[in-house]
Amino acid sequence: MAEKKVGAEEIFKEFKEHSISEFFRKNRQMLGFAGKVRSLTTVVHEYVTNTLDACEEAGILPQVTVEIKNTGEERCLVKVTDNGPGIPKRLIGKALANVLSGTKFHRYMQQRGQQGIGAAGCTLFSQITTGKKVHVRSGTDKEAYECDLGISIKDNKPVIENLAELSKGNFKGLEIQAEFAGVKYENSDHGVSEYLKRTALVNPHIAIKLIDPEGNTLEFPRSVNEMPQRPRQIQPHPLGLEASDLLDFAHVTESRKLSSFLIESFARVTQNKINELKELVPDIDLSKEPRQLSWDEAEKLIVAFKKIKWIGPELDSLSLIGEQRVGAAIKNILNPEFQAVVERKPKVFRGGIPFVVEVGVAYGGNAGKATAEGASGNILRFANKVPLLFDGGTCGISEAIRGLQWKRYNIDDFEKSPISILVSVCSVYIPYSGVGKQSVAQEEEIMEEIRLAVMDSLRILQRYLSGVRQRTTAETKYKTIMRYVSQLAADLGELTGGKSETIEQSLRSLIENKYKKIFEDESEIKG
Ligand SMILES: Nc1ncnc2c1ncn2[C@@H]1O[C@H](COP(=O)(O)OP(=O)(O)OP(=O)(O)O)[C@@H](O)[C@H]1O
Ligand SMILES: [Mg+2]
Repeated sequence: MAEKKVGAEEIFKEFKEHSISEFFRKNRQMLGFAGKVRSLTTVVHEYVTNTLDACEEAGILPQVTVEIKNTGEERCLVKVTDNGPGIPKRLIGKALANVLSGTKFHRYMQQRGQQGIGAAGCTLFSQITTGKKVHVRSGTDKEAYECDLGISIKDNKPVIENLAELSKGNFKGLEIQAEFAGVKYENSDHGVSEYLKRTALVNPHIAIKLIDPEGNTLEFPRSVNEMPQRPRQIQPHPLGLEASDLLDFAHVTESRKLSSFLIESFARVTQNKINELKELVPDIDLSKEPRQLSWDEAEKLIVAFKKIKWIGPELDSLSLIGEQRVGAAIKNILNPEFQAVVERKPKVFRGGIPFVVEVGVAYGGNAGKATAEGASGNILRFANKVPLLFDGGTCGISEAIRGLQWKRYNIDDFEKSPISILVSVCSVYIPYSGVGKQSVAQEEEIMEEIRLAVMDSLRILQRYLSGVRQRTTAETKYKTIMRYVSQLAADLGELTGGKSETIEQSLRSLIENKYKKIFEDESEIKG
């Protein structure tokens, strides 16, 4: 039987617009809300990264308490309290209950958050799994209040209820309390405590307290009392831009002309460069209003940018973990037999985005991942000082390391060796491969820097390992020879008529001198 034909009018009756909240309600896995353990870790990750960003911006040594209670089968109440600057009342809805808004998206600066999705994503996740609102207390230096927050999903607008003033001075910071279903607390590599432990490691200026569902308190005390060096906000470099970025900036600028917009908004653009541009794109009127820039023109400008010789972007805008802190972190967490740290110089990807790679390698002790057979090699990934616990398989960091020829470094099989490699990437813009921000995109320049840093650190490890091997072989030989010295001295004494004790002493000191050098070299590497 012939199928009944359906016309466009009929089909398009169903045509509807969706809000970004509706989109994420259907696709919450994109925000990291997939799997029970991962979902809970994601919630804590979003709140704690916000605390760190807010405290660092306000110049406050961060202190955060995370309390998790089981409220039913696969259901938890999460309370995160910080001592940060708080959020002004007039913006609380937008900040925590409006997907895609925040203070960080439009800034070109090394920060943990960059999308304006994290906290509102949690509000949405709570609402769609429990139907409940998120309770917030906030204290700034001007006001203190509490309220319940939800999202009107149809139009991605905040819903604020039970707003009440708190007496000023009663509370300073931000406290968020939210209930989630489809979540589970677990002490595993992907759980909340591991996440917080790794956060504390690379952020030694934070004090973290975790109260788990059993009521146990786990503290990661502050180990450094100075704030890390503040990253600097910089202007985007023309080579790091795409047409859509240029249009975005052009539509919000207050500059009157396209030429002054380019000079005022981007790094390294001078009147001379504008003159060069004029020659490269003669059909674009650079004196027109930036708002009138079309997509075609933006594309042409981007192509022209690539033909101009630019001074590179400012590279001192980044805040590293630091060689000493990486070293101390490795010692604390892994207490390895051997460790080495390599810090590379800042570099640029996509032609204009600064980034820097730091690497630490640890061998022996608690390094590697414990397995039934002993240990296997593992990679500890960090981006802008945030631990990445998920999506390792697709991450540029893991991929860069995967292709290494381990045997060159005296490592027979990475999968069967007690090795941990800590890789940290810091940038004004981390190219995450998903909104869940758990894996770094496979950008060739970043991967190359990671490869070089890891190879440097492995060369140092190799010296140690070949020393160990040499020592082990030498020790075996030394012991074997020494075992025969008495007999040999006695035989030689008999043959030559010499005193066997004297011969034995000479033989012993001859052998000891020969092996002393090898043992000394080894202890030098270790020290
Ligand atoms: N603990 C906090 N203290 C002060 N301000 C906060 C805190 N948490 C969130 N904010 C504010 O709320 C905004 C929204 O947070 P949200 O996590 O949704 O986005 P983000 O951190 O900007 O980006 P991302 O989606 O990458 O996390 C932040 O930009 C910040 O201005
Ligand atoms: Mg955030």
